[in-house]
Amino acid sequence: MTSTKRLTIAMQKSGRLSDDTQNLLKRCGLKLNLTDRRLLAHVSNMPIDIMRVRSSDIPGLVMDGVCDIGIVGDNTLEEAALERKLLGNNSEYIRTKGLNFGGCRLSLAMPEEFEYTGIESLNGLRFATTYPQLLKRYASENNIDVDFCLLKGSVEVAPRVGLADGICDLVSTGATLEANGLKEVEVIYRSTAALIQNPNPLSQDKQAIFDTLLQRMQGVMKAKE
Ligand code: PRP
Ligand code: MG
Repeated sequence: MTSTKRLTIAMQKSGRLSDDTQNLLKRCGLKLNLTDRRLLAHVSNMPIDIMRVRSSDIPGLVMDGVCDIGIVGDNTLEEAALERKLLGNNSEYIRTKGLNFGGCRLSLAMPEEFEYTGIESLNGLRFATTYPQLLKRYASENNIDVDFCLLKGSVEVAPRVGLADGICDLVSTGATLEANGLKEVEVIYRSTAALIQNPNPLSQDKQAIFDTLLQRMQGVMKAKE
């Protein structure tokens, strides 16, 4: 568990959200020295520690109270919450604030030559995905039966090598789909980066730090509009 004095923030070490997250924190006035190998960094001018981890670990670290707050994509957050609920682990959190970066969608995509005639035409097919829980929820809400295989990255390769009929993965510009001969057929979830916190009350000291940080974030985001 974290100390009662220093606020601990979990953020993505490298990947889609890490640069924007780092910039946001810097623009909020946090003096950070995030050299590559230092995974727990002290902010020198505020009582804040930054933990740099894999994005898929951020929800659990916040839900278990190891970190007080986290910055993570809604897609990763929702997938982790569904999975943890299923396993009987802590899955409660507060989504304090949506952030104005990291926008993307989770979509179903099929090879270009596939004849898509509506969602029923996906019945019985197999999808490669990093987001099996979101896929299962979508399938059950839409009364279709789909199979999945788990890939943690380079999901778009799966249809071409015969691993799956289609994919369920993140789309931002659409360039990766196009480069791999795939077309988007359904958007199943829309996501941005979000600030989340553990549902238990913070100590008074930490709450005061968090309030300051939130106020500054508000200002930074307003300035960017
Ligand atoms: C992400 C995501 C898609 C791609 C979407 O992959 O999984 O593949 O970006 O972006 P686009 O629509 O702008 O092309 P990433 O490059 O992070 O690699 P990974 O999936 O191998 O981790
Ligand atoms: Mg990818």
